[in-house]
Amino acid sequence: MPIRRAAAAGAMLLVCGCADVEVQPQPMAGADAGRGRRVIEQVGCGACHLIPGVAWPQGKVGPTLDGFAEQALIAGRFPNQPEILARWVRDAPSLSPQTGMPAVPMTEQEARDVAAYLYTLDAR
Ligand code: HEC
Repeated sequence: MPIRRAAAAGAMLLVCGCADVEVQPQPMAGADAGRGRRVIEQVGCGACHLIPGVAWPQGKVGPTLDGFAEQALIAGRFPNQPEILARWVRDAPSLSPQTGMPAVPMTEQEARDVAAYLYTLDAR
């Protein structure tokens, strides 16, 4: 039955697609990881986080961001997806009012660039 086989193949594709999204967050559209790294240095995320590739004090107020690209959740609560991460890095309290992570002043484009850099941090 060709139709049934096609449906089965479609279902397989769906399953594989979902699995991919979970393991490897999508890259940010229209964002630049190199610019993001410079923004991270300028606004001082390193005061609270260890961030590979960023020369800063490597603070321990927040969790290390080493391997962050492979994490399923942001702050243990939100799906680690590009648009959500871009909002988190700019205004975490708007997602999680009780969080210890402050809002950090930056433009929306800068937040997307920052998120793109964080997605380069896979566990090596
Ligand atoms: C004043 C300290 C502080 C600063 C500055 C700060 N953060 Fe955070 N960050 C935190 C804390 C605390 C948490 C944990 C929040 C929670 O679990 O609710 C956190 C959580 C995070 C997370 C989620 C980590 C995880 O393991 O799920 C990311 C990503 C993140 N911060 C990125 C950034 C970026 C990018 C910047 C700079 C734009 C930044 N942070 C600036 C304190 C800070």
